[in-house]
Amino acid sequence: MVDTLGLGVGITFTLIMVVLHFSKGTGWRPQEDISDEVLEHRAATVPETAFPEPMNRSIGGGAAGVGAAVAGETAAEGELEEGGEAAGADDDPSAIPDDEADVYEVEFVKEGQTIEVKENTTLLEAGEEEGWDLPYACREGQCISCGGHITNGHAEEYVEHHTNQMLGEAELSDGYTLTCVAYPTADLSLETGESP
Ligand code: FES
Repeated sequence: MVDTLGLGVGITFTLIMVVLHFSKGTGWRPQEDISDEVLEHRAATVPETAFPEPMNRSIGGGAAGVGAAVAGETAAEGELEEGGEAAGADDDPSAIPDDEADVYEVEFVKEGQTIEVKENTTLLEAGEEEGWDLPYACREGQCISCGGHITNGHAEEYVEHHTNQMLGEAELSDGYTLTCVAYPTADLSLETGESP
């Protein structure tokens, strides 16, 4: 014989315990989102590089910020850099139409081939089109990763640098070039992977 009163008391007690258990909760509270704070702190404490790093690795303001800053300084620095050139939209050789572009013979000494390169194509692009794995980083004339050596003489007698933030008159005179921004203006011999 079941004791109805005892059973009722037991069920009531159990229900009270269950309600108390769940009303108390786990005590977990969401953490405050501090990601913006961390990023700002990092940007303020990590120094920016002087030029955009390859593969968008720029920090302290981001690649776009650095790129914009460098681009903004282009004209001023171009004037300061002895022998350097400032960027200019009007004299961009890449804007020359293909059917109007003169063609030059470029000997890639280390690759062991001479190829035809149009005046609207950089030495780096021409080499890449041949399938050669040539060095580069910024592709904007702002580092020295793509450096090459023109064995014929003063670099600017053989190529036009659309931009050049790195090479001064002495290096150009020795034949050094930034292949990523160098458009041929004469036949030439080029040693890739060479920097002053
Ligand atoms: S890749 Fe940086 S100057 Fe050419």
